[in-house]
Amino acid sequence: MNQSPDNEKGRKPGFGLILHLHPRKVKESTLRFNLTFGLGGMAALLVVVQVVTGLLLKFHYEPSPENAYNSILNLQDSLLFGRMLRSIHHWSSIVLLWVVFLHLLRVAFTGAYRKPRHASWIFGLALLILVVLSNFTGYLLPWDQLSYWAVTISTSLLAYVPLIGDSVRAALLGGKEVGQATLTNFFNLHTGVIPLLLAVLMAYHFWRIRRAGGVIVAEKDKEGPMVDTRPHLVNREFVVAMALLAFIILVSSLFDAPLRERANPSFSPNPAKAPWYFMGLQELLIHFHPFFAIVVFPVTVLAAASWLPYIKLEDRNQGIWFLSDNGIRSAKFVLVSGIVFTVLFIGFSELLPDPELLLPSVPSLVTKGFFPFAILAVTLWFFLKQIRQKFSLNRSEIIQSVIIVMIVSYAVLTLTGIFFRGEGMNLMWPWKV
Ligand code: HEM
Ligand code: HEM
Repeated sequence: MNQSPDNEKGRKPGFGLILHLHPRKVKESTLRFNLTFGLGGMAALLVVVQVVTGLLLKFHYEPSPENAYNSILNLQDSLLFGRMLRSIHHWSSIVLLWVVFLHLLRVAFTGAYRKPRHASWIFGLALLILVVLSNFTGYLLPWDQLSYWAVTISTSLLAYVPLIGDSVRAALLGGKEVGQATLTNFFNLHTGVIPLLLAVLMAYHFWRIRRAGGVIVAEKDKEGPMVDTRPHLVNREFVVAMALLAFIILVSSLFDAPLRERANPSFSPNPAKAPWYFMGLQELLIHFHPFFAIVVFPVTVLAAASWLPYIKLEDRNQGIWFLSDNGIRSAKFVLVSGIVFTVLFIGFSELLPDPELLLPSVPSLVTKGFFPFAILAVTLWFFLKQIRQKFSLNRSEIIQSVIIVMIVSYAVLTLTGIFFRGEGMNLMWPWKV
């Protein structure tokens, strides 16, 4: 292969920056695309795209309820490539969320959360939260009907968080309602605090990955050959980066970032929906007591995810997607069961009488909270026990099953909230809007 000559320090020209991120040599087996799908690198590139486009948007954007909407109109119509700039920022933010989520799944499925990668996993969770917060704080900035009411709905959910909910909401909104103070807060968080935290955590994330000896490899490849980072890894990263950028530019030139009519605080659309990534939570709110929907479910999931690296596992599920054919079969079975179960759950919850009305003397925290939550937990436990026996699964495969169930359930809840809820958040067919 044609290689550029090393300079006097023994380095290839232009290699210095790359060596801050990568070691000089990497395991050949880690170059296989289907090990990482390049998702971590894509996430890093998208954050850079967001920072660059965000900084350029800042030149034109005015964070005040009077001028925000007009500044966006002006940016789109009068500035050369203004519309394109905004669309790139908009679509990249969505792709970023998906990429980070898929990266989390790949890490979880290849068992890369286990020691010595536990800190990468835990700080990865923090990065995921930051990416969600970046999306959420950016959502308000265009100050149109969609953004205004989505943020009003989402922040009103904080009221259900005991003890701190009201104060956090008041601090975030800078008052009782979404207004100038909220826009100032969101703008500063979006363009200052969150990007700074992202940069610091990303740097730590990368350092931990290097400290752990690079990305995970399967046991059988541990003694495999090493290759030069450049050209082998760098060229591959370049191809993935170019393909991703081309995709973002293509989507942004075909579809403009949406902008509805200017925000009108005295006219609430019906239904008023949260941003799409919170729609699963809004859907849960229809079926469960708010304390369970907004606090118990998310906290349980986050606690379980943080606990994951500390579960004792005897098997060698590292760097491999599935340990056995049975594991693949059970994953498919769990996927379909999760979808069917969640659809049935929504249907029954809609058709059966409201437990609050059936037992008016019992607090709704019990009838719509503890009680259905306990039934759900027992059903899940029983289901996992059954599939463990049916497919002779080990602990890693059980963990994969739990992850699949949670993800498909949240996906079904989200899709229901987005497409099957109409006026008054009642169920409806999407084509009858
Ligand atoms: C991970 C990083 C980021 C994400 C996920 C993100 C996401 C978003 C989203 C979803 C919007 C609303 C866009 C729309 O649909 O109209 C937005 C708007 C905006 N963002 Fe960001 N952003 C990020 C970083 C930044 C940074 C670093 C800056 C500036 C330093 C910035 C400046 C802006 C500005 C000025 C707007 C308002 C313009 C508009 O809405 O079109 N963003 N951002
Ligand atoms: C802005 C968000 C993120 C960025 C930029 C990022 C970046 C990266 C990169 C570049 C890698 C190495 C290459 C690869 O695995 O594709 C990596 C590995 C890793 N990431 Fe992330 N990541 C992010 C979010 C997350 C999240 C949400 C998690 C999980 C909760 C996570 C956990 C890990 C772990 C455990 C590794 C080591 C994987 C291994 O050794 O095979 N990261 N990350």
